[in-house]
Amino acid sequence: MSKYTLNVNGESKTVDVADDTPLLWVLRDHLHLAGTKFGCGIGQCGACTVHLNGVPTRACVTTVSGIGAAKITTIEGLAANGDHPVQKAWQELDVPQCGYCQAGQIMTAAALLKKSPQPSDQEIDKALDGHLCRCGTYLRIRAGIHRAAEIANKEAL
Ligand code: FES
Ligand code: FES
Repeated sequence: MSKYTLNVNGESKTVDVADDTPLLWVLRDHLHLAGTKFGCGIGQCGACTVHLNGVPTRACVTTVSGIGAAKITTIEGLAANGDHPVQKAWQELDVPQCGYCQAGQIMTAAALLKKSPQPSDQEIDKALDGHLCRCGTYLRIRAGIHRAAEIANKEAL
């Protein structure tokens, strides 16, 4: 076991875990941030996506020993009151069905909009490629990202 001090959602958190512990289990089991979901555990579904220094990253295949001082953002830390433009658009358009994959989808959508404020369908499909949704909400996700872009644009005016 080793002690790791991580920057999670702007706060410093220390955990005492094995060096090969996946970030996903540090977040869920040690820091009780259960918004990040376990889907496949092998980097194939996107359910566990968080941001590391703003970059969408699969927490199930990211070991705690490799994180260092990187800023970790989870769905709980995306916006102070759950009011990120992507979250607003998701509510407005009722994007989720069962919801299980949605935290990961939202984290990748938020990172995409930061990089590309008005993404095309092709950019959206490329960014979200590899995020699986068993409920098949892909078309609503795409519409949600376009709506989030409009909301973000209005908020910036
Ligand atoms: S749980 Fe991490 S990619 Fe599926
Ligand atoms: S909303 Fe159910 S898996 Fe995506």
